[in-house]
Amino acid sequence: MSISPVAEIREKQDITREQLELLLTTEDEKLQEELRRVAREVADEIYGKQVFIRGLIEFTNYCRNDCLYCGIRRSNAHASRYRLSKDDILSCCKTGYELGFRTFVLQGGEDRFFTDERICDIVSSIKERYPDCAITLSLGEKEKSSYEAYKVAGADRYLLRHETADCAHYESLHPTEMSFSHRIQCLWDLKDIGYQVGCGFMVGSPGQTMDSLYKDLQFIKELQPQMCGIGPFIPQKDTPFGEEPAGTMEQTLRLLSVIRLIHPHVLLPATTALGTIHPRGREKGILAGANVVMPNLSPVEVRDKYKLYDNKICTGDEAAECRACLEKRMESIGYQVVVHRGDYRP
Ligand code: 5AD
Ligand code: FES
Repeated sequence: MSISPVAEIREKQDITREQLELLLTTEDEKLQEELRRVAREVADEIYGKQVFIRGLIEFTNYCRNDCLYCGIRRSNAHASRYRLSKDDILSCCKTGYELGFRTFVLQGGEDRFFTDERICDIVSSIKERYPDCAITLSLGEKEKSSYEAYKVAGADRYLLRHETADCAHYESLHPTEMSFSHRIQCLWDLKDIGYQVGCGFMVGSPGQTMDSLYKDLQFIKELQPQMCGIGPFIPQKDTPFGEEPAGTMEQTLRLLSVIRLIHPHVLLPATTALGTIHPRGREKGILAGANVVMPNLSPVEVRDKYKLYDNKICTGDEAAECRACLEKRMESIGYQVVVHRGDYRP
């Protein structure tokens, strides 16, 4: 009897183009169940029944870029713009620390107001107050010297989704002034400096094909990132892709599982976008092999303004306490949220 494709991918920690196509298109329930189960087994072997949490602080929605899919692109005149002050950010961290967070993720658009000097000042102030916490930055493409300065100031990790590893596809998602090669170069620079690095992509973005997805997986194998963020593309009505269909939960779950199998130690979030397209999307993500959740720590007043896509969850008053909500959700599927930094386990 021949060995199942899932077992073979697990064994080789690699996948062929044909196997990817099979796993993303099969209607065989048993095979789909096997994919999820084996991916979850692999995650359990490395990380146990634990889910790491990161406190996400969305500190600015000003952005100089104009990515065609993103609701905070500079041409979106309907976006109501905000910036958090250093004090606002520190008070988010204080609340977060008291709630048990030991990783803070500072995410924002590419906002020139936040010069390297300002970023370094914020990072070093957080680090000074909370030396036992990890700081993750997600600020987009910068010069290598800037990334170096943030590292010296105390940043530990950096998230920069590559968005797609297919150059032509990248160009169809971005304006001409953005360059695929620069984005990929940034990821290598970050690795070179010694950050724990996260790449990632949207599932079902307009123009995505089996070939482009296969390139995404090959890129992950090559870069060997510590983290990988994937979530469904969700249209935002004020963008050029406002009428495009969303990516599906099903494809996102299958891809989470495949990534767990080919790059077993990766820190893999069940993203907010996944929670947005299905009420139990994040729970299903964990059960498909994810092991991180990133609840929102931003002040409730600004949450509905950081609108990369429509219908984002956790933006109402009732969502002030995402930490407790997620803890309950994870417990409901037999997983425990843990409070330490949640570093990559090589
Ligand atoms: N749908 C889903 N994800 C999106 N992102 C940006 N716009 C959208 C959208 N419309 C993702 C991008 C970006 C990350 C911060 O959010 O992948 O890197
Ligand atoms: Fe934000 Fe549930 S995680 S309200």
